[in-house]
Amino acid sequence: MLKITVLVSGNGTNLQAIIDKIEHKEIRNTELVGVISNNPNAYALERAKKHGIPAKCISPKSFETREQFHQALLEVVNAWKTDLIVLAGYLVILPKAMVEAYSSRIINIHPSLIPSFCGQGFYGLKVHEAVLARGVKVTGATVHFVDGGTDTGPISLQKAVEVKEDDTPEALQKRVMEQAEWEILPKAIDMIANGKIKVIGNKVQKVK
Ligand code: GAR
Repeated sequence: MLKITVLVSGNGTNLQAIIDKIEHKEIRNTELVGVISNNPNAYALERAKKHGIPAKCISPKSFETREQFHQALLEVVNAWKTDLIVLAGYLVILPKAMVEAYSSRIINIHPSLIPSFCGQGFYGLKVHEAVLARGVKVTGATVHFVDGGTDTGPISLQKAVEVKEDDTPEALQKRVMEQAEWEILPKAIDMIANGKIKVIGNKVQKVK
């Protein structure tokens, strides 16, 4: 069983997709051991509690230093014996020590086709605003492993989504979630849990 801990900051619709697909056995051999939010008001925490999943808020604001916050986060993830950390709309930069300790064992969902519209400052609705401002016709979502950079790690899965002429950032965000994010994040977890993909250098390869 792959033990996953999901890190969130907001609504938690990606978390919900993971919970539902574990319950429906579309994600196999996976146990969701806990959910951590930096934001005490994140609805994602309620979603976890409704399904009997341990849910904790670890906020940087509750600690005197960044180091203390980082240590508290790492301690909980370690205590839950996490095999894979899943960033599902987690908007805090991860501690370097965590990225190193969990090398090739952290994945993130990003709401664009990396390497477009990613990196510092590109998160949530801002991504979709930038997509519409540039006038691209196709966008999408990416699941990637996390390395020391921002959105630079090996890419596991991507799915394209059409941009429509009358899209608003909100409408596009919703379509990218429905058509891409809620599908490829659970799928990537299932593939990792069942030994279907591996990281080789800066690439992800399918295991035959
Ligand atoms: C999702 O669209 C996710 O891709 C994005 O935040 C949203 C969280 O929604 N993540 C980023 O922008 C990370 N750079 P959710 O809380 O409903 O899952």
